[in-house]
Amino acid sequence: MNGATEKIRWFVIEGQQAVARTVVGMISEAAASAIGQRDAFSLVLAGGSTPKVAYAQLAETTQQWEKWSLYYGDERCLPPGDPERNSHMVIETGLAHRAGRHFPIPAERGPQQGAAEYAPLVDAARPFDMVLLGMGEDGHTASLFPGHPLDDAQASVIPVHDAPKPPPDRISLTATALQDSTEIIVIVTGKEKADALRRWLDGEALPIAQVTAGAIGRVSVVTDQREVLETFSI
Ligand code: 6PG
Repeated sequence: MNGATEKIRWFVIEGQQAVARTVVGMISEAAASAIGQRDAFSLVLAGGSTPKVAYAQLAETTQQWEKWSLYYGDERCLPPGDPERNSHMVIETGLAHRAGRHFPIPAERGPQQGAAEYAPLVDAARPFDMVLLGMGEDGHTASLFPGHPLDDAQASVIPVHDAPKPPPDRISLTATALQDSTEIIVIVTGKEKADALRRWLDGEALPIAQVTAGAIGRVSVVTDQREVLETFSI
C-alpha cells in the first residue's frame, strides 16, 4: 500500500448480492446520520453496471425518502430514455421515484451545455453526504479518464470528449467535487478490475487513486478481489 491508500477502509465481500447488501447498509447508515444531523441526505450515484443490484435492493428498503436528494457523478451524452444512460438503471430499479428529489444530468443537451446547467445544482448541494464511485479497467472513475483533465479551477462539472469508454461525449463531476463529501464508497467487483486495483494499490496515479486520495471525508472500498488485497497484506 502507499500513503494514499492507507487511510481507506477496505471491505472484501464475495457475491453480487452480498456486495449490494453491504453497500446498501453503508448508504442507509449515512442517510440516518445525515438526516439526524441536518434533516436531509444528499447522495451522488455511480454509473456503469456494477451498482445496479445495490440500487434495486436500496429501492426496496424503508427510508425517510422525502429527505433524500439524488445526484449523478457522471452521465453519458445520449438521448433521454436511452438504456445506456447512467440514469436509466436508477429509474428502472425504482430508486429515482423513491427519493424526494432526483437530479439527472441533462446530458442530452451535449457536454458543454449539460455541464454548465448541472454545475449550479452541484455547487448548491456541496458538500455531499455520500458519493458512490465505480472504477473502470483503466482506473477511471465517473467520467474522469487517464490522460484527461480531472479538475477545473472554474467549474465543478466538466464536459468530457473522446472518452475511451463509449460514448465519447460525457459529463462528469470534477475530482474536487467528488472529493467534497462526508463519505466516498467505491465499488470494485469482477476479475477484470484486478489489474487496475493492483496498480492503484501500487501507487499509480490513476483517476480513482487521485480522487480518493484528495477526499475530505472517509473513503471505503467494497471489493470481491480478495487475492489482490492479500498480496498487499490488506
Ligand atoms: C460510466 C461510469 C463509469 C463506471 C466504470 C465501471 O459511465 O461508465 O460512470 O465510471 O463506474 O466504468 O463500470 P462498470 O460498473 O460497468 O464496470
